[in-house]
Amino acid sequence: MNELNSVVDNAKAAFEQARTPADLENAKALFLGKSGRITEMMKGMAALAVDEKKSRGAAINLAKQAIEAALNGRRQALADAELQLQLQAEALDVSLPGRQCGQGSLHPVSLTLERIEAIFGSMGFDVAQGPEIESDWFNFTALNTPEDHPARSMHDTFYVEGGTASAPNLLRTHSSPMQIRYAVQHVKRHRAAAGAGQAPGLFSGDMPEIRVIAPGRTYRVDSDATHSPMFHQCEGLWVGENVSFKDLKFVFTDFCRTFFESDDLVLRFRPSFFPFTEPSAEIDIQFQNGPLAGRWLEVAGSGQVHPNVIRNMGLEPEKYIGFAFGMGPDRLAMLRYGVNDLRLFFDGDIRFLSQFQS
Ligand code: PHE
Repeated sequence: MNELNSVVDNAKAAFEQARTPADLENAKALFLGKSGRITEMMKGMAALAVDEKKSRGAAINLAKQAIEAALNGRRQALADAELQLQLQAEALDVSLPGRQCGQGSLHPVSLTLERIEAIFGSMGFDVAQGPEIESDWFNFTALNTPEDHPARSMHDTFYVEGGTASAPNLLRTHSSPMQIRYAVQHVKRHRAAAGAGQAPGLFSGDMPEIRVIAPGRTYRVDSDATHSPMFHQCEGLWVGENVSFKDLKFVFTDFCRTFFESDDLVLRFRPSFFPFTEPSAEIDIQFQNGPLAGRWLEVAGSGQVHPNVIRNMGLEPEKYIGFAFGMGPDRLAMLRYGVNDLRLFFDGDIRFLSQFQS
């Protein structure tokens, strides 16, 4: 019996030493396999007398059961250990802080355009957008800009393929073509409503006033600290039966004071020239406080819409009159945020751009 006990102890020790399921199977073979210790002992019983066989067989069976129990126990322990290792390897620390995804922000010029749209929107202005590749007609001719006007020279204008020699395509040099595009659509709609649909000639019936701003990208061959080949403009147009320069002054003053949150801001309308307005004025602003106090800063061109332009809108200039302005949102953004180099806006440096939240 001692011999059987030591076989069982040996088996237990061998199983304990097994570090992997394969080790364990090898150890099992030593005891329970075809020529394992227990099997050999069973075979050895053949030579015994019948009653000896009985007691010996029972004893071997007990030993065999003990070995099998030890084997199963070790199997389970190895499986548990392996599962434990796997769980550890795949462990997620749910208490770790998440990986931050960077918080985006709007570009300062976009913020400025949003602000401009909100202010003019509150004054009843529609917001319109138009193409950046324009025809010569909308960019110049319809705006009463004669063919020999210096603005048409190659120095200022980016010409693009696709037009003809007499009607080239170009990148719009200002947002003013939107005056014509928007007004023509407006007149077409209300002309039809007034029953004057296809009637030839200029429209002199009744229609709601045209009140629109048109912000967007514009292009000129120009580049330095205050000029970039791509820049923004925002056009404004108000045409009705009784819209005067006084309204322009009121609207633009109100806009500037709201935009810069400065009630004592002063505006100056300085006589100027644009082919599409008569009279024309450059608009300067002057802050009374802050780092720019006292300096005159140019922010827009403006004027009363020229009768030829009113005609190109399809309107009768004896009945319709209005004003237009074109301002530079980039300039407004520089003034509002105290930025002194326009190129910073378009360099795409995140460190610069992420500073603007509102
Ligand atoms: N389009 C002019 C410019 O780019 C500005 C302007 C717009 C002037 C409307 C008068 C009226 O300089």
